Amino acid sequence: MIQARRLTKKYDNGVLALENLSLHIKKGEFVFLVGPSGAGKSTFLNLVIRRETPTDGFLSVAGRNVALLKKQEIPFFRRRIGYIFQDYKLFPNKTVRENVSFALEVIEVDPGEIRKRVNFVLDLVGLIHKAEVFPSELSGGEQQRVSLARAIVNRPLLLLADEPTGNLDPDTSWEIMELLREINRRGTTIVMATHNREIVNRMQKRVIALEKGRLVRDESKGGYAVEA
Ligand SMILES: Nc1ncnc2c1ncn2[C@@H]1O[C@H](COP(=O)(O)OP(=O)(O)OP(=O)(O)O)[C@@H](O)[C@H]1O
Ligand SMILES: [Mg+2]
Repeated sequence: MIQARRLTKKYDNGVLALENLSLHIKKGEFVFLVGPSGAGKSTFLNLVIRRETPTDGFLSVAGRNVALLKKQEIPFFRRRIGYIFQDYKLFPNKTVRENVSFALEVIEVDPGEIRKRVNFVLDLVGLIHKAEVFPSELSGGEQQRVSLARAIVNRPLLLLADEPTGNLDPDTSWEIMELLREINRRGTTIVMATHNREIVNRMQKRVIALEKGRLVRDESKGGYAVEA
């Protein structure tokens, strides 16, 4: 699903955010991306979804070399990738339903099908009863769940989640994790960047640790940090 070889990203301001990163993530995997603030986690996810372009090295996602994607190919490329941003912005002037429908409307799915799929994912995240309200009327955790519903409504092959449990209480965080586990069981590959030690330790999934843009650990069924 994702293959990186000596992937390097240097921003225009000179910051070397990723350096010679090589890794391989297979279809169906659940991977945690950990490491201190500034380690390059979001940068990696942004390269995968092609919000940023590599400075050097090779990155292929779902069989496409991202550096070679033409501008007009990018929307199509992103269609099968779900993304939960670190700041999970919802459209404030759209209802929950409209926020989630949007991804399908832009790809011209027919209205009956949109309604069916949106109802399904809102039910999955436990927010069907809030479908017609606006984001400002929701708690942070509910907004996060809408963001998750929006990311999975087009049945992505790959789901990128950047701190999807940031700012959530432990119970709500676990609800989100259970949802992600379920989505992964249904076949979606998941890469999740997080600082949440307890979640990583309890999930027992593959852990890729970055530090200053370099890969420092890649462990199946790993923990948040190396055991002392
Ligand atoms: N658009 C940008 N322009 C310039 N520098 C950037 C940009 N985005 C990130 N950086 C820098 O690149 C480095 C890696 O940042 P990145 O956001 O990938 O870290 P992170 O691991 O996601 O951190 P956090 O855990 O705080 O979210 C940091 O030094 C950051 O300041
Ligand atoms: Mg980040």
